[in-house]
Amino acid sequence: MLGCLQKEVSMRPKTIAGNWKMYKTGDEAASFVATLASLTKDCQERLLLAVPFTAITAAATAAKGTNIVIGAQNMHDASSGAFTGEIAGPMLTAAGARFVILGHSERREIFGEDDVFVGRKVQAALNAKLSVILCVGETLADREAGNTMVKVSEQVKTCLYSIPAASFEHITIAYEPVWAIGTGKVATPAEAQAVHAAIRRIIGSITSPEVADKLCILYGGSVKPENAAALRAEKDIDGFLVGGASLNPETFSSLCQK
Ligand code: PGA
Repeated sequence: MLGCLQKEVSMRPKTIAGNWKMYKTGDEAASFVATLASLTKDCQERLLLAVPFTAITAAATAAKGTNIVIGAQNMHDASSGAFTGEIAGPMLTAAGARFVILGHSERREIFGEDDVFVGRKVQAALNAKLSVILCVGETLADREAGNTMVKVSEQVKTCLYSIPAASFEHITIAYEPVWAIGTGKVATPAEAQAVHAAIRRIIGSITSPEVADKLCILYGGSVKPENAAALRAEKDIDGFLVGGASLNPETFSSLCQK
């Protein structure tokens, strides 16, 4: 598991996570990881790559001894069973994954996953000794109706209310406005900061201010080398979850601070 807990508030680990979605085979993943490792020797952030299920073992093998950690993009909430085509947390752990992305908006919108299901997956992932990146974010309609905070708060609370405070060291939240994913539209640093601060307050209210202070909150949605610096300057933005710009090792590595 990836610990996020640090003694100093200011020492929240900065994280850059790539979400490859349905791209790259095992061989492609292995060569990507080798290239990325050589490009990021001086990188100060922790580097995560959420790869397709079939590439986990190859990527994790290539990542041994590097600063790169491999994870998955989804899982089922049962640990085994008659669920054709699904994958369980213990299978991901055995394949070499150390974390899993849950509740990505593509899972919610295309595959109909709701907060209750995502919440069960969070618990199942922790049971399988996987850290979690939980994605939340509003649609364009939510934002235009002034419902951003209501929507995000509902997602955070429903997905996490039953998780014990002690487990939050294994949880990272990614704020990903749906209207910014894959569209080239990015939230302004101020817009993102406002939601990140609200998420930290919500976590404080369901756990404790100490747990909230230590929580890593990533921004995702059209992050690119050109817009990363302004976003990372915000106090509650602890790194990024990156889709398109994570598919090329040179572009992805240029998001790191040297
Ligand atoms: P994007 O995707 O960086 O291509 O917008 C982000 C994500 O889907 O996590």
